[in-house]
Amino acid sequence: MKKTWLVTGGAGFIGANFVRLARERDLARVVNLDLLTYAGNLDNLADLGGDSDHVFVRGDIRDGDLLSRLLAEHRPEAIVHFAAESHVDRSIHDAVPFLSTNILGTHALLEAAHRHLQGLAQPERDAFRFLHVSTDEVFGTLGPNDPAFSERTPYAPNSPYAASKAASDHLVRAWCHTYGLPTLVTNCSNNYGPYQFPEKLLPLMICNVREGKPLPVYGDGRQIRDWLFVTDHCEAIVAVLERGRVGETYNIGGSSELANIDVVQTLCAIFDERDPAAAPHARLIRHVQDRPGHDRRYAIDHRKISAELGWSPRIAFTEGIRLTVDWYLAHQPWIDRVRTGAYQEWVEKNYARR
Ligand code: NAD
Ligand code: TYD
Repeated sequence: MKKTWLVTGGAGFIGANFVRLARERDLARVVNLDLLTYAGNLDNLADLGGDSDHVFVRGDIRDGDLLSRLLAEHRPEAIVHFAAESHVDRSIHDAVPFLSTNILGTHALLEAAHRHLQGLAQPERDAFRFLHVSTDEVFGTLGPNDPAFSERTPYAPNSPYAASKAASDHLVRAWCHTYGLPTLVTNCSNNYGPYQFPEKLLPLMICNVREGKPLPVYGDGRQIRDWLFVTDHCEAIVAVLERGRVGETYNIGGSSELANIDVVQTLCAIFDERDPAAAPHARLIRHVQDRPGHDRRYAIDHRKISAELGWSPRIAFTEGIRLTVDWYLAHQPWIDRVRTGAYQEWVEKNYARR
């Protein structure tokens, strides 16, 4: 019989890419639990419309009764936990939704999984996995000559977002250690690619450059991120889910350290090629006030997942950025519906919360 995975946050950027990969390869039946906050968008899943092995449930990971009902009804072999508040700037403005969803929501999910497992026979319990999707931001910031983050790097989160994700990682560890919940944790670097909400660096810059709007680069723009194309991240999650060792954490990264200003310049150069009449697009770059507490450098050492599970990133940044630009240019209606809020009006009319 086909496996079932309960995926949380599967209408967001990475979650939707993961659900699509899981369904395209028929890896499992997917029960997709998502609250459809501003970041959740059913347009991200529109092409799965007729797939009876994708069950969408609008609901909150903080709702323990709903979680118990879903686990009893669908008896998933795994929970893949993406749901979170994910944007650092929003967490600086108001940390409360981050503490609530990322910490209390993860706690509710762990508790529901733990209680559910107690009612299962031993073979089912042994096969079950709880995979928690986390970030490299839990490790804090690196100096220019520091070695990349490994699984042994101590936690030192600097933003409210990073602190909330660090807390959730610690809860996952505790539920594994104390209750024997078969958990896996992945800590990944910055993702980019199709369906990313245009508040994050790359989609924001793509949308702005296209419309001739200013490109706001925080501070000197020399902050470094390790960029990973989203489908490479999804492949890594499948590898960890299927072959990862219980109780372990796995770092995932793109081996692609780039300064923000270089990312934006690269994007401008691509637009120069495509629309020479409007060149140079770099004239739109504006250095604006820096983000408070802005981490200077992230870099991931992914040797563990590569050695143990045979995963490595496939899509180089030079290719991935072009794929991303092409996707956004070909999906103007998706951008328009996000920008006007139409993607949410439809949801409010058509989806009662469970
Ligand atoms: P996203 O903001 O695009 O999507 C988050 C999804 O979670 C949305 O669909 C939203 O509706 C849903 N959600 C939020 N609160 C919820 C709640 N209380 N109950 C149910 N659903 C809820 O985020 P993303 O960029 O796709 O990130 C997914 C996960 O990956 C997050 O846990 C994030 O911390 C982690 N991560 C992201 C990156 C990145 O570069 N984007 C890198 C590493 C790790
Ligand atoms: P972001 O996409 O918000 O991801 P994160 O903060 O999780 O790394 O930002 C990526 C980098 O780009 C980060 O160093 C902040 C910077 N940035 C800008 O310079 N300008 C912007 O408008 C945004 C959104 C981000």
